Amino acid sequence: MRYVRMPIEVESPEEYGYARIRWNLSESSVADRRLSDLGLTFPDLTLLYTEHRGSARLRELIAAEGAGVGADDVLVTNGAAGALFIIATALLAPGDHLVVIRPNYATNLETPRAIGCEISLIDLAFENGFRVDLEAVAAAITPRTRLISVTNPHNPTGVMLTAAEQQALADLAARHGCRLLVDETYRDLSFDGPLPMAASLGPHVISVSSLSKAYGVPGIRIGWLVNSDPALQTLFLAAKEQIGICGSVLDEYVAEQVLARRADLLPPIVAEMRARLDLVADWMAGENRLEWVRPTGGVVCFPRMTAEPPGGVEGFYRRLLDEQGAYVGPGHWFEIPDRHFRLGYGWPTRAELENGLKAISAALRG
Ligand SMILES: Cc1ncc(COP(=O)(O)O)c(C=O)c1O
Repeated sequence: MRYVRMPIEVESPEEYGYARIRWNLSESSVADRRLSDLGLTFPDLTLLYTEHRGSARLRELIAAEGAGVGADDVLVTNGAAGALFIIATALLAPGDHLVVIRPNYATNLETPRAIGCEISLIDLAFENGFRVDLEAVAAAITPRTRLISVTNPHNPTGVMLTAAEQQALADLAARHGCRLLVDETYRDLSFDGPLPMAASLGPHVISVSSLSKAYGVPGIRIGWLVNSDPALQTLFLAAKEQIGICGSVLDEYVAEQVLARRADLLPPIVAEMRARLDLVADWMAGENRLEWVRPTGGVVCFPRMTAEPPGGVEGFYRRLLDEQGAYVGPGHWFEIPDRHFRLGYGWPTRAELENGLKAISAALRG
C-alpha cells in the first residue's frame, strides 16, 4: 500500500480547527449530536470483545432496510470509510482494473490508487446535470475489471441515480462478471424517497452506508457493508478481524439506540434538510455569480462560479476564510477545478448557513 494523505482530510475543518471557522459550510453531514440530544445514557455495559460481525441486534436493524437482506449479510465497520477500505483491500490487487465515477468521495479513488490499481475515471459533467453516462461506464469495462464504484446519493453534487440507472449498473456488472460497489452513505437523506438498497439487487452488489451523515453521529464511527454472497462476506470479515478484530461495544450500543428510533428521528431531519435546500435555492436564484445542479439527496451541493472572481479563485477562497470567516470544500478536494466548491447546508445552524451564504456572495465580489 502506498498511502498518501488526501486534501479533503488535510484541509478538513477538524484538522484546520473548528474554532477558527465562523460559518462552517464545508461539512457533509447534519449537525453533530450530543448524547443528551438523543436522550441517551450508558447502561453498565460489559466491555468485552463483541461479535466480530457487529452485534446481532445492530445488524438486524441495518438489514431491515433492504428487501431480501438478512443480518448475516451485514458487516459492521469503522464508519463507511472502514467499509470502503475493507472492500478495496479485499477485492483489489495491484494492477487490477476498476471503473470509478468522479467526482467522488476521495477514499473511493485513493485506496484503489494506494493498492496500485488501474482506474478508469468516468467524469460527471455539470452540463449533463452530473448524470452518470452509462454507455461510458460500459465502454470502460475490460476483461480485467473487478469493480464498478459509484456513490448514491452523490457526494459532492447531491444528484441521485434513478432506480433504473442503478439497476442498469447492476446488470452491467453482472454481465461482465464484476462487482458493483454502491456507497449509499447518504441514502437516508433522499428527498424523493430512497432507492432500493443496492445489495438487494444481487450477490455481486455491495452496499456501504453509515450513521454519520443523516443522524449526526460521525464520532461513534459506525458504518457497514451489506452483501449477500457468503464467501465474500467471509473475506470481508477476515479483513475486519485483521484490522481490529471487532467493533466497540460503546459505539455499537449508541448505534443500536439510534437505529431503533429511526422512524422517529429521521422524518424531522429530512424535513429540515428539504427546507434548508429551499433556502439555498432561493439564494442561488439571486446569485448570478454561481450556477448549480439542484440536488435531490444528501446535505451538500456543488455550485460553479460563472466568472472569474476578483483575484481569481485563490482570491475568492482567501477572502472567504480570512475576511468572512466562512469555509467551503474547494473543487480540488474532489479532483475538480476550484471554480466548483462543495457547500454543506446541513451542519451549521440556519442562521450560520444564512451568514455563510452572504459571506460567499461577498467574497465572490472582492
Ligand atoms: C460518500 C461518502 N462515503 C463515505 C464517507 C465516510 O463516512 P463515515 O466513515 O463517517 O461513515 C463519507 C464522508 O464524508 C462520504 O461522503
